[in-house]
Amino acid sequence: MDFNLTNFLEKQISMKYVAYFIGACLGVKFGSFILRSAIKKVKILIQKSKVRKFIQKRNQDLKNLIIPTPNLSQDIINKVLNSDITQLKKMLEEKIVKSVDLVNIFSQRVQKHGIEFGIVTHLKYEEAIEAAKECDKLRKENSPLCSLPLFGIPISMKETFDEKGYPATIGSIFRLDHIPKEDGFCVKLLKSGGAIPFLRTNVPQAAMIYESVNDVYGRVLNPWDKTKYAGGSSGGEGAAVAARMSPGGMGSDIGGSIRIPAAMCGVYGFKPTAQRTIMSGHTFYSKAFNGQKTVLCASGPICKSVDDLILFFRQLSDPQYLQKFKLHERDPFFPTQQINETELSNNKKQRRFGYFKTLKSFDCTLANQRAVEIAVEKLRAQGHQLVEVDLPDVDSIKNGFIQFLLSDSFQGIYDLLSQEDTVKEYLMIDIFASTPPLIKRFLSVLFYMLGEKSFAELLPQTNRLQVEELNKLQYKIGQLQQDYLRLFDDHEIEAIICPSFGAPALPHSSSLDSTPVCLYTFIWNYLNFPCGVLPVTKVQKEEQHFNNSRIKELPAKRVDFYMKQNTEGLPVNVQVVAPPFKEETCLNVMKILDDEIQFYKHNSYPELK
Ligand SMILES: *[C@@H]1O[C@H](CO)[C@@H](O)[C@H](O)[C@H]1NC(C)=O
Ligand SMILES: *[C@@H]1O[C@H](CO)[C@@H](O)[C@H](O)[C@H]1NC(C)=O
Ligand SMILES: *[C@@H]1O[C@H](CO)[C@@H](O)[C@H](O)[C@H]1NC(C)=O
Repeated sequence: MDFNLTNFLEKQISMKYVAYFIGACLGVKFGSFILRSAIKKVKILIQKSKVRKFIQKRNQDLKNLIIPTPNLSQDIINKVLNSDITQLKKMLEEKIVKSVDLVNIFSQRVQKHGIEFGIVTHLKYEEAIEAAKECDKLRKENSPLCSLPLFGIPISMKETFDEKGYPATIGSIFRLDHIPKEDGFCVKLLKSGGAIPFLRTNVPQAAMIYESVNDVYGRVLNPWDKTKYAGGSSGGEGAAVAARMSPGGMGSDIGGSIRIPAAMCGVYGFKPTAQRTIMSGHTFYSKAFNGQKTVLCASGPICKSVDDLILFFRQLSDPQYLQKFKLHERDPFFPTQQINETELSNNKKQRRFGYFKTLKSFDCTLANQRAVEIAVEKLRAQGHQLVEVDLPDVDSIKNGFIQFLLSDSFQGIYDLLSQEDTVKEYLMIDIFASTPPLIKRFLSVLFYMLGEKSFAELLPQTNRLQVEELNKLQYKIGQLQQDYLRLFDDHEIEAIICPSFGAPALPHSSSLDSTPVCLYTFIWNYLNFPCGVLPVTKVQKEEQHFNNSRIKELPAKRVDFYMKQNTEGLPVNVQVVAPPFKEETCLNVMKILDDEIQFYKHNSYPELK
């Protein structure tokens, strides 16, 4: 045997160096990981102390504001708080109140309850009072401007809309200094119609979940019950309107963000076809997300009546108001379609509508089904025909929407949130986005064996998509749109009446494990159909459970658990859906329904306690 000691030693020594080298590399990597985490933590700490100061100042400013009580009887003040915009306009015309009074009355309420309910991000009091004085002056002069849809009316804006001088944080602690130098186009257009944006309202961190909570402004509480969420992402808007801090305002909706808070808070919300809304002047959390075109976001109002939704629709979608702006100022694809007045005020009898009460992909609660039954009966009683419809390919929409949402592995959101801690409501998305595809396959099998079939099917759909796969997804959306239009044609129906959401408002943080309840809203974003919600009824005592679900998986068990947490008396809305560009039909059917139901004739707005 030939043994060469030198060679052997050399080999040992070089092995040793390799081991040292690997050790050092791992050490450096681990060290740098620890260091980076530590730096991140320190940065967050520093930023959070800035946020604290920022919030202290805001609270102090709001508290210190001297808002005069208008010289009006308490009856008139109550009337103002309970009126919709249409009635407020009448009160302005009849000189019962002035715009200045309106700003004062609503601002006082914001000052009193706005922070406690997590609704207000900023009250733009001084600016609003100046604008109101100007409106009152013009009204005295009988200016033709007074006939504009929202003239002299204070309105609120979701914090994602750019307003000069106010931060658009989108709930991120690192965006305190994102302060637009001028109003976004949407705000400009509203102001050009005499609306007075006076209040900015809270959203979820990064505005991509349906519970409005973040580390800057805190959590929005539902005015009907503080222990329940107000929905999101336009959660501050829904809550502000139901809490009568704002007569109406603007939200935006890419998966239900207008309709969910409106439904959770028992008020009215409308999401038009994306191409018939103004998105210019609305900020998303990342440039990449701003640029995506697979599922389009739409802006739209949250109000106290269908009449008011129509007022906003007029101001924002009538081409005559848009023409006034220079080409570069407005959206390149600003709405060009004239409002069809015949369609909007259609009072024909014997029309045909479709409806469905629940979806087998994820049933909705009994209260939500009963709300549809009520709406269907009201329309039948008016001589209309209602046919039950079966939506095609709901599972494919469900999976497709998740695929879209995670198509960039949520990179867009992580660009923003990698610097800070995500609120716990993002946990599921975090897991979907950060688990490697192979492990997801493995987990999928595991969940399948555990009987969590829906979750098992969902997991593999949450991988990052290649451009080609994304294009295929878009192609499929096009086909689904055709299928859904065929549904309207085959049944000869003008609109569909359906549940607004899978459940009424549930306890805070419950969105974590009961997400399928938003199936009822995102279907219509995926297809880009106009839709709106209106309040119909309240949860009854015996409806406080979810054992009607055909699916016996975890989310259903959780909804059952949450429904039992004192949900009696919470408002329940229905949804009306029309084909693309048929906003007039959608609003018209909502109006016909609302005239029969008149929820707030029979119920009062929640007392804030
Ligand atoms: C308040 O209104 C009443 C009745 O309109 C009027 O008599 C009174 O002078 C007003 N007070 C003030 C301080 O303007
Ligand atoms: C408005 O709608 C009615 C009813 O659907 C239709 O007959 C009419 O052509 C529409 N008008 C315009 C200008 O599109
Ligand atoms: C469902 O729950 C309700 C309320 O807890 C109960 O009264 C009812 O019997 C249950 N129904 C079934 C089928 O379990």
